[in-house]
Amino acid sequence: PRKVILDVDTGTDDAVAIITALLAPELEVIGICSVNGNREVKLTTDNTLRVKALMGSDVPVYRGCEYPMVATLTPGRKPGIPHREGEMTGVRSLVHGDHLPLPETDLKEEPEPAVTWLIDTLLHAEEKITLIPVGPLTNIGMAIRADPRIVEHIEEIIIMGGGYLVNNTTPMAEYNVWVDPESLEVVLQSGCKVTLVPLDATHECYLTVEDAADLRALGNKAADAVATLIEQRTKGYSMDADMKAYQGAPIHDALAVCALLDPTVLTDVRPVCCHVDISGGYADGQTCLDLRARIDKEEPNCFFAFHADRDKFAAMLKNILARG
Ligand code: BDR
Ligand code: CA
Repeated sequence: PRKVILDVDTGTDDAVAIITALLAPELEVIGICSVNGNREVKLTTDNTLRVKALMGSDVPVYRGCEYPMVATLTPGRKPGIPHREGEMTGVRSLVHGDHLPLPETDLKEEPEPAVTWLIDTLLHAEEKITLIPVGPLTNIGMAIRADPRIVEHIEEIIIMGGGYLVNNTTPMAEYNVWVDPESLEVVLQSGCKVTLVPLDATHECYLTVEDAADLRALGNKAADAVATLIEQRTKGYSMDADMKAYQGAPIHDALAVCALLDPTVLTDVRPVCCHVDISGGYADGQTCLDLRARIDKEEPNCFFAFHADRDKFAAMLKNILARG
């Protein structure tokens, strides 16, 4: 199996991503790093450990960065540490829950911080390792900045983040990138093979209460937990006026894992040159794509998925979770 490291700000959809990766026979998850994002890093770490306990997994969990690389340093640019209210409970903006609906656990994270573990592990790896970051890019950006030699040991990086025509945190920015725009820019300039799984793709992959019912019918603990998380997210999304029509919710982070397992779940994937707006202005955190028809433009630095196949995504999740 392919060796992967997950980097998460768990979070309902992060939880689905972790469960999917742990169950996929094609992947060997060698570690999970937590990061500040949906909640402060202590809570995203706790939630990650709850998922680990649910799965009876022995994968080590490393606690990552508490603050973005730069973004909170300028007064007024980001309101303190930016978190997403309601991401644990699914009832967005109303119930400010801190934990996923999973039992508490005594499991603890490893003593080593995520960034030093990442550097150490990558430098000493016998084979190249794939990274799947589905939260703000802080840990990966900091690791690359601290020791750029790690780049040679990275097979590829599949990121849930960014948006072209679809955004969710400001009119121009997706949440993971908005929290730490500089870190994604470091990753994009690193020379690694990078795939962005943006909101344009994830918002085409709405899962519904019917999908949740199919999962529940599988009759195992993992599928049951995922069914509950999907139902919660569906409730949250249905509160947004512009989402009501969909009767479902995107499970963003799980699409990044599925994209590694079967790249054809993403459709219309194009090599593009992407830079992140780090100006602190109105478009702060925007993934700016150079789609001009010119030959004198900068070389592509990533693959950007403009669309994705909902039915394939739903079928993949059901197949993988049947193993739970
Ligand atoms: C991303 O933001 C987080 O809240 C989700 O977990 C996902 O990674 C979507 O914008
Ligand atoms: Ca996430």
